[in-house]
Amino acid sequence: MKSWTASDRIVAPSVLAADFSRIAEECSRAISAGADWLHLDVMDGQFVDNISFGPAMVETIHATNDIFLDVHLMITRPDHFLPRFVEAGADLITVHVEAEAKHVVGKTLAAIRAAGCQAGLALNPATPLESALPFLHEIDLLLIMTVVPGFGGQAFMGEVLPKVEEAARLREEHGLPFHLEVDGGIDPHTAVASASAGANVLVAGSSTFKAPDMNAAIASIRNA
Ligand code: DX5
Ligand code: ZN
Repeated sequence: MKSWTASDRIVAPSVLAADFSRIAEECSRAISAGADWLHLDVMDGQFVDNISFGPAMVETIHATNDIFLDVHLMITRPDHFLPRFVEAGADLITVHVEAEAKHVVGKTLAAIRAAGCQAGLALNPATPLESALPFLHEIDLLLIMTVVPGFGGQAFMGEVLPKVEEAARLREEHGLPFHLEVDGGIDPHTAVASASAGANVLVAGSSTFKAPDMNAAIASIRNA
């Protein structure tokens, strides 16, 4: 599988917006339309107010499609469930930094890497960048949420962009290699602002899977 750097523009359709009754075909459709990664949103009904899917879905997608799987865990005790997502075929696993996630962040990041996956750290819109500072040398990806997590189809929160800019500045200043990912309300318009703030991984659910022309939607997000 190709290896990606932070200077690559990566479009990651979120399968939360796909038709779950034909999930393998939906993932193939996204890959044919130009997806670089697939973004898989795991929600447990506790860390966020929604329940999506778990390791079995990740395993089904892994078994039926050959693409980089970017697994976003919005769950309490991500450390407890981690081995199951590794086993299911995740390539990159992102955990949240907020106290409600109830894990020792540094230990979980180390465990993700020790299991052979890339490690991501996510910040909710209200969480300051300072919370991520102790971990910037230990991550492959920093996810800055551009909506309050839990549901697809929400409006992009432009007020989060200064945090993306500051993270990009720190990444540059310290010569760090982590990807900078935005997630929530990304479409061809909000992708422009996100990319100019420094994001290189653009997660997009509704604007890709529900687009009349998925190829065109992915291309315009990539070229934003
Ligand atoms: C939000 C999820 C997102 C969501 C994005 O809780 O983390 O990945 O699927 O969906 P859209 O692109 O529809 O905002
Ligand atoms: Zn997500």
